[in-house]
Amino acid sequence: MKISIFGTGYVGLVTGACLANLGHNVLCIDIDENKIIQLKNGVVPFYEPGLKELITKNMGRNRLFFSTDCQEGANFGEVIFNCVGTPSKEDGSAKLDYVFNVAKDVARYSQGYKLLINKSTVPPGTARKCQKTIIEINPNSEVEVASNPEFLKEGNAVHDFTHPDKIIIGVKSDKSAEIIKQVYAGLMRPYLKFLVTNWETSEMSKYANNSFLATKISFINEIANICDLVGADIKEVSQAIGMDYRISPKFLNAGTGYGGSCFPKDIKAICATAKEQGYRSKLLEEVHQLNERQKLVLLPKINFVYPDLKEKKLAIWGLSFKPKTDDIRDSCSLSVIKELLKSGAKINVYDPEAIDNIKEIFGEQINYFNSPEAAAKGTDGIILVTEWDEFRNINLKGIGETMLAKKMFDGRNIYNPNYLREIGFEYFGVGRK
Ligand SMILES: NC(=O)c1ccc[n+]([C@@H]2O[C@H](COP(=O)([O-])OP(=O)(O)OC[C@H]3O[C@@H](n4cnc5c(N)ncnc54)[C@H](O)[C@@H]3O)[C@@H](O)[C@H]2O)c1
Repeated sequence: MKISIFGTGYVGLVTGACLANLGHNVLCIDIDENKIIQLKNGVVPFYEPGLKELITKNMGRNRLFFSTDCQEGANFGEVIFNCVGTPSKEDGSAKLDYVFNVAKDVARYSQGYKLLINKSTVPPGTARKCQKTIIEINPNSEVEVASNPEFLKEGNAVHDFTHPDKIIIGVKSDKSAEIIKQVYAGLMRPYLKFLVTNWETSEMSKYANNSFLATKISFINEIANICDLVGADIKEVSQAIGMDYRISPKFLNAGTGYGGSCFPKDIKAICATAKEQGYRSKLLEEVHQLNERQKLVLLPKINFVYPDLKEKKLAIWGLSFKPKTDDIRDSCSLSVIKELLKSGAKINVYDPEAIDNIKEIFGEQINYFNSPEAAAKGTDGIILVTEWDEFRNINLKGIGETMLAKKMFDGRNIYNPNYLREIGFEYFGVGRK
């Protein structure tokens, strides 16, 4: 099948590469010329495990192409995926201009029947508005709109796309549902859950999914903060409640809150959608506020040890919003660095993939290192923000000997406090001592 993809970000590029790998002919379009030049030269503009190999292989097999020409994109595919960004506006609502720009291009330039599938996360009602926009621009258009939200996780995106738990589609006709089934035929397994529903339900499912997960994280963080006060251990509390099959152990790791390009913006967007309808989602508004507070949960612990941070130097390990990505959008590290800079601390940072992105924000205000050992040397403490695997079994004993003061502020509770104390560290976790 011939497929066009608009947007070559984390979702569009993964979708394009994976669909090409299933045997489809895929043309990926982006308005960012630099990205397309890089991609044509085999350079992947961001870090996502396994993606470069997939792109190189499918470009080599003449199944994956790149262009900045929206007209070409609108004409090429029988199926067109809309994978452009939907960032937050000032008021928290989703900025849908990019999504509608694609719908307009497809209305203007395409001929014959086309299926435009919104994969971007968009508020309920967007597919309906896209369909209306298309008819307004071109009353003879045969473009049909569908919704197919994406549930992949950065850092595991290729695997998630090729092994989905579920595929949710919102359609107006049986014909479009059949076409989407053909697109994904290569992924179909007897156990794969495939839900066909209407536009709004499909769109809402994505927000409900992310809102639930974000709520679970804020819930366990709230319990962790209480554990801190009463001397309980959050790791064991999480284990205890995770044994209840109605709860499950997933998403029960307390820490410095969630970040990334999805949870924060999606929670704000669904709150804004509810508000437009005259309803205040107090629960979800609070989930967002709690998370903002949680990002700075280590600060009082650092201030307890160092009431004056002016002459202190601290190492931050992990900058991306989670391991295995270079994405720093809404990352907890940004909040921590900003606060520490305000209090006059000197900051050394290390991350396996996200250094260049952080440099664009903080420039010469902080110091960059290419190993965790180098970042920690001569500092008054380590703040672990992102739990990359390479930090888990690192030689803390050796590193401690190079530090001015052995303090560990473990924002993801990855270390054993007893072991750290044994090797001379003072240990501070989130919800555990
Ligand atoms: N990143 C994730 O993990 C993830 C997971 C699931 C869903 N989503 C959703 O998918 C959507 C895309 O997210 P992302 O992280 O891939 O975004 P991104 O910001 O990484 O990429 C979006 C791309 O769209 C391009 N673009 C904008 N307008 C365009 C146009 N008219 N034509 C062609 N390209 C255009 C931009 O230049 C950019 O490269 C968002 O709605 C997001 O919420 C993201």
